[in-house]
Amino acid sequence: MTFKLVNIWNPKGGQGKSMIAINLAAAAVQMGLKPLVICQDPQGTSSMIYEGGRLPFEVIANIPKNKPDANLVLIDHQASDWQLPQGRLLLMPVKPARTQYKTYVDARKIAEKAGKQIITVVTDAQHHRTEERETAKRLVEKGALEIPSSGVFSRADAQLLTIFDEEMNKAYKIKDRRNDFLKILGAVLADALEQEGEKKNAA
Ligand SMILES: Nc1ncnc2c1ncn2[C@@H]1O[C@H](COP(=O)(O)OP(=O)(O)O)[C@@H](O)[C@H]1O
Ligand SMILES: [Mg+2]
Repeated sequence: MTFKLVNIWNPKGGQGKSMIAINLAAAAVQMGLKPLVICQDPQGTSSMIYEGGRLPFEVIANIPKNKPDANLVLIDHQASDWQLPQGRLLLMPVKPARTQYKTYVDARKIAEKAGKQIITVVTDAQHHRTEERETAKRLVEKGALEIPSSGVFSRADAQLLTIFDEEMNKAYKIKDRRNDFLKILGAVLADALEQEGEKKNAA
């Protein structure tokens, strides 16, 4: 793979942008890629976890002037950022609770109008709540991926780690949660391959 840029975007805070940025980067390291996370908020979660000093990839605060030494760049957008990101591929996390969901719907409309490719990731759905369960189900039926609600994320956060760190090997259902990220990475890479194919056809 030559180079892939993914914007992790949802103007609503607390949807899982930073959580996905660092864990997806960690999944990429597992697969032999060289990821870079750009955290647009210097006080942001992914920067803070990076400060812990144990991540196997870099988190920087600004978009570098020169092309970075990485083949997967993940931009962790900050909350309230309604400006549609420039890249073609958007990864949009969303928690399906009613109060959170509307922002995603509004932002997705803007993205669709602009012709973006969108990977939706349902995070932290509380399946015992009918409404959240139904919303999550509807999104998954339309092609969204899901990261079920799990304690491994707060546990990893507390130790300034990703769920791929070996310290997390014995956490409950850790393999399933790691697989969720490998699947998301698969979707990102499939899009990258498709685009490379299109470029070749155009040449
Ligand atoms: N699937 C999940 N299960 C449990 N907690 C989750 C899940 N997804 C996200 N979270 C938690 O939700 C909180 C907000 O996530 P965060 O990535 O900081 O959101 P954002 O960057 O969009 O503001 C974090 O504490 C994170 O660990
Ligand atoms: Mg964040």
